Amino acid sequence: MDKAQILVASNRGPVSFSIGEDGSLDYRRGGGGLVSGLSSVAETTDTLWVCAALSEADRTAAARAPEARLDLAGFDLGGMRVRMLDIPPDTFTDAYTRVANSTLWFVHHMLYDTPNKPRFDAAFRAQWEGFRSYNAAFAEALLTGSADNARVAVQDYHLALVPRMLRQRRPDLRITHFSHTPWAPPEYFGMLPGEVGRELLEGMLGADHLGFLSRRWAEAFLHCCETFLPIDVDWDRRTVEFGGRLVHVGVHALGADADSLRRRAAAADVEEWRTALRERVGDTRLIVRVDRTELSKNIVRGMEAYRELLREHPEWQGRVTHLAFAYPSRGDVPEYREYTEQVQRVAKEINQEFATADWTPLVLELTDDFPRSLAAYRMADVLLINPIRDGMNLVAKEAPALSDDGCALVLSTEAGAADELGANSFLVNPYDISQTAGALRKALEMPDDKRRARCERLVESGTALPPKRWFEEQLRALR
Ligand code: G6P
Repeated sequence: MDKAQILVASNRGPVSFSIGEDGSLDYRRGGGGLVSGLSSVAETTDTLWVCAALSEADRTAAARAPEARLDLAGFDLGGMRVRMLDIPPDTFTDAYTRVANSTLWFVHHMLYDTPNKPRFDAAFRAQWEGFRSYNAAFAEALLTGSADNARVAVQDYHLALVPRMLRQRRPDLRITHFSHTPWAPPEYFGMLPGEVGRELLEGMLGADHLGFLSRRWAEAFLHCCETFLPIDVDWDRRTVEFGGRLVHVGVHALGADADSLRRRAAAADVEEWRTALRERVGDTRLIVRVDRTELSKNIVRGMEAYRELLREHPEWQGRVTHLAFAYPSRGDVPEYREYTEQVQRVAKEINQEFATADWTPLVLELTDDFPRSLAAYRMADVLLINPIRDGMNLVAKEAPALSDDGCALVLSTEAGAADELGANSFLVNPYDISQTAGALRKALEMPDDKRRARCERLVESGTALPPKRWFEEQLRALR
């Protein structure tokens, strides 16, 4: 098979397969900025994307065509090659469910309920072995698939050990690693067993360039290096000397892909959803949120803030609807299942307290429907984005770009997006329910012209670094 000049590696790939009744394989493109970010390079360079097979259909596809050249022309992706790795199920569970999602995700988002968790025992050590094997499987595929001096863009916490594994065997490769999450400060990162923390940091330092979404996360990473490794940080240049090489740490604040979103949002299915949603909510004002049902997104406190608004300002009863789209995520992690139940319970309580014959105050949808989300983005008067901690939060940048009449943004200070959007948002402390309720009210009561003008500025800042340029910036950093 041809060796690629540019390689991307991520746990979740750019497509997912499905098997038709006649046994034929079909695929559809997943969401996310990274896929569109690659559009520029895939046309001109031989590009290979290595990812994990995440379903039975993916595994079937991987077995039938180990390196599928996918025609993603409809998405300007030319004929990019995708290689799905069929990781043994136990190894995958250890790596993805236990280490990546139940440990690293919790650490970086500071989600632990610390009197009980985390617990790093013998079982965790065994799972860590699985995490190593999973990273090694990715490294192997990248090593065999890469041309001399190829550039490799490794994505996210799942693959933190890959850069060093590549470096040890192929010093010619130019490697970048990008973190799509926040990074924990040393006090929190230090909860990990010492040898695990060091292996993660050293694993990433195998790269030439490390990218983060916000200066806050980049600096937290450097603080961890300084605290847990015997190395010095050059804070002016944001570099670390490691293994006789200089590793650069950069901030690349991924923005929304406004053009492709607008094209998609003009389609008939989105129009149909817009009509259907309008019928459902009547002429009430709309507070919209769209997330994975994810602990860090803080959906419950958001609903509680809405409840407080209705209690404290009854004049809004009957005049506003909260559309909360919380689609399923990581059902293998018990905390996520419990959280989903909690979200449903609180939504029900709010409707029981306030609903009338012709008004449903809160519409909760727990299934994923992309065109429905786009319709809601277009219709939102207020966008509620209140995560406890979030690497960026692209919804905060995408929704204003699609808004029909300008939306106001209530935004957590703890989202990376607050760096660029904070000046034109109602910033809130995500734990402060009353402050969030107050911000929702101010956002609802903002004069139309002011709201529209602010929304324009949100669009300007939120689209400043579209995925294509975001990806090019990182490749350039490898020169
Ligand atoms: C975050 C991570 C991504 C991940 C996505 C969805 O954005 O940074 O790497 O793909 O969540 O999570 P999932 O576990 O479903 O892939």
